[in-house]
Amino acid sequence: MVLVTGGAGYIGSHTCISLIEAGYDLVVFDNFCNSSRESLKRVEKIVGRKINFFEGDIRSSEDLDGVFKAFEIDSVIHFAGLKAVGESVAEPVMYYDNNVSGTVKLCEAMNKHKCKKIVFSSSATVYGDPHTTPIKEDFPLSATNPYGRSKLFIEEILRDIFVSDSEWKIVLLRYFNPVGAHKSGTIGEDPNGIPNNLMPYIAQTAVGKLECLSVFGGDYDTEDGTGVRDYIHVVDLADGHVKALNIINKLENVLTVNLGTGNGYSVLDMVKAFEKASGKTVNYKIAPRRAGDIAKCYADPSYALEQLGWSAKLGVDEMCEDSWRWQSNNPEGYTA
Ligand code: NAD
Ligand code: WQD
Repeated sequence: MVLVTGGAGYIGSHTCISLIEAGYDLVVFDNFCNSSRESLKRVEKIVGRKINFFEGDIRSSEDLDGVFKAFEIDSVIHFAGLKAVGESVAEPVMYYDNNVSGTVKLCEAMNKHKCKKIVFSSSATVYGDPHTTPIKEDFPLSATNPYGRSKLFIEEILRDIFVSDSEWKIVLLRYFNPVGAHKSGTIGEDPNGIPNNLMPYIAQTAVGKLECLSVFGGDYDTEDGTGVRDYIHVVDLADGHVKALNIINKLENVLTVNLGTGNGYSVLDMVKAFEKASGKTVNYKIAPRRAGDIAKCYADPSYALEQLGWSAKLGVDEMCEDSWRWQSNNPEGYTA
C-alpha cells in the first residue's frame, strides 16, 4: 500500500486517481490545512470506490505511528507541505517546521516501520535563477526564499539518509509549473483567497471573480517581454509519480528528475491560450516585475524519459480547457 501524504491537495488528489487506475492501493494522510475533505469525496466518485483516509499531521509521530499501524505501507509519496513563496518569506519558521521538520518526522516513522521507499515533491525552484535553459538535473542549486530552501534542505536530508543506509529507495521529482485539472471538471486547484500563481489568477479573471490580471513585468529578455515558464498538466505530473513507483525497487542510487514538458510559454501566451479555451476575455495590464521572479524557466525533460519512461502528453490547449472546466463548474472551488 502507498501512503500519500498531502493526498487531499491539488497534485495529491490527481495522483490518487492515477495510482488507483494503475492498480495501486493507497491511503491518504492529510491534516487539511490547505485542502478539504470534498476533494477526496470527488476522487471517490471519479474512481468509483472508497479511498482509505487517515487524518493527521506529518509533524506528529503519534499520527504517523497511527497510520503505519493501521495500514501495511510499503512506500510513500510525500506531497504534504506548505507552498506559498510569499508566505514563506513572512513565516519562515512555519515553513521550516512544516516542510523540513515534518519530513524528518516522516522519515523517522518510515525507518521505525521499515518502510524505506519515498517519492518526494521537489520543485524547479531549487535551480534558483538558472544560468541557461533548458534546465538539466545537474545544474547548480540555490534558493531565494524559505520555501525554496525547505525543498533544497529536504533533498539534502534524503540524500544523507541514503548515504547512511543504502536500502532506501528515493526519488526526487522536481516539478515545473503544474496547471490544469482532471478532465471531469470536478477536482482542481482551489487556492485560498487571491491566487498567487498565474493560472488560477487567469481562470478567476475569465470567470469574472477577479477584474484584471497584473502581468508582472513586460521587459524581460524573452520574446514578448513577459516571463516564460514550463507549464505542465497536473494529470501528466500525476502519471510521473506512478512511473516513479513502477521503477523504485530497481534504484541503486537516489534518482532526481525534472517533470516538465520542455516547452516554455510566456504569460501572454497563456492568456491567449486561456481565452481560446474559454471563449472569454482575460483583461490584463502590464505591471512592475514581482520581486524574486526570473525571466525564463523550462525543463530538459529527457532524463525523465530515460529513467522513468515518462514524458508529458498534454499540451497547453488541454491545460487551459481542463482548468476552465474546473473553474467554470466550480467558481467557488470546493466550498460551494
Ligand atoms: P496543496 O497545498 O494543494 O497540497 C498539499 C497538501 O498537504 C494539502 O492537502 C495540505 O492540507 C497537506 N499538508 C500540508 N501540511 C501538512 C502537514 N503538516 N501534515 C499533513 N498534511 C499536510 O499543494 P500542491 O500544489 O498539491 O503541492 C503538493 C506538493 O508539491 C507540495 O510539497 C509542494 O511544495 C510541491 N510542489 C508544488 C508545486 C505547485 O506549483 N503546485 C510546484 C512544485 C512543487
Ligand atoms: C508564473 C509566471 C509570473 C501571477 C511558483 C513558485 C515555484 C513553484 C511554482 C512550488 C511568472 C507571472 C504570475 C500573476 C503574473 N511552486 N505572473 N501575474 O513564480 O513560476 O513559480 O509556482 O514549488 O516554486 O515560485 O509561478 O504561477 O506564480 O508565475 O504575471 O498574477 O506568471 O511573473 O512569470 P512561478 P507563478
